[in-house]
Amino acid sequence: MTLLYKSSAQRGCVWKELFAQEAPDIEFRLWPDAGNPADVRYLAAWEPPAELISTFPNLEVLFSVGAGVDQFDLSQVPRQVQVVRMIEPLLTQGMAEYVALATLALHRNLIDYVDAQRERRWTPIELVPAAERRVSVMGLGTMGRAAIEALRPFGFQLAGWSRSKRAIADVECFAGADSLDAFLGRSDILICLLPLTPETSGILRRETFEKLPSGARLINAARGAHLVEQDLLHALASGQISGAILDVLAQEPPPADHPFWNHPRILITPHMASNTSAESGGRALLDNVLRHERGEPMMGVVQRELGY
Ligand code: NDP
Ligand code: OXD
Repeated sequence: MTLLYKSSAQRGCVWKELFAQEAPDIEFRLWPDAGNPADVRYLAAWEPPAELISTFPNLEVLFSVGAGVDQFDLSQVPRQVQVVRMIEPLLTQGMAEYVALATLALHRNLIDYVDAQRERRWTPIELVPAAERRVSVMGLGTMGRAAIEALRPFGFQLAGWSRSKRAIADVECFAGADSLDAFLGRSDILICLLPLTPETSGILRRETFEKLPSGARLINAARGAHLVEQDLLHALASGQISGAILDVLAQEPPPADHPFWNHPRILITPHMASNTSAESGGRALLDNVLRHERGEPMMGVVQRELGY
């Protein structure tokens, strides 16, 4: 049986070695050396070849090397092929760290202090205790739940929003479109960790911002297309939003004249909130392939009709 890998070459070499040692029966091929396409039963990729259907007639599983699958055109993936996203501990840990970093930065007014330092101003801002700050997470999946757990020790008032109802101790859980307004209305810091689907695309837009408390703060560590960038600029100009930390943008990297580069109320990071680790990501992939070989359910199987 054969797995074809098409993503970062460096990580591919580590994974090839792991498979050679722990599952020598599985041939691990590195793109573009696909060999006979009819051999390929597993494809692990970030961006798979567009002509997937005709290229690999015996494909059984398409693995994303990242947590998201929005980069796949699912309409081009045959129905019988299972699509699986990456779940691995260091990818989750990285996001938990990023959310803690960004939330504390907004909670403790770091954007103001960066500005003040540039202008040689010494202007302390009165502390707001964490217990008085309402922090809300959109998406209560692998990333959202890890974010909640990373924030828990600080004592924020935590809430989460998901499609189906979740129960998390000491977290106010909201579910579905009907509860979105109530969720937003209690969000001093709003964190987006949703998958990008037709339903969630553009969810961070004017109507959403208007439902937040005045002066709310925003973190987007999911996908650039969740945010309508022009609407954020308007919300910042009016003060409805007072600061934003964005790890993902519509165009990455943004063009040189993009207004976010030197906006005084926005911090951007270059899509580095988290990353699949060469070591633990390879183990997660191997574990899933072995599960599939044994006829067991894999971790992170995507519900095609939902797009995540
Ligand atoms: P999961 O699939 O585990 O979780 C998705 C969550 O979003 C679930 O709670 C789901 O609800 C909820 N959700 C989906 N659609 C809706 C909707 N229409 N309305 C309300 N809630 C919805 O995904 P992960 O947590 O693993 O990852 C989330 C995203 O984070 C990835 O898709 C990726 O885009 C991004 N990411 C970004 C990284 C970065 O470096 N910036 C790194 C890793 C991930 P329910 O629980 O009911 O299913
Ligand atoms: C991912 C990412 O989805 O890196 O894993 O954004």
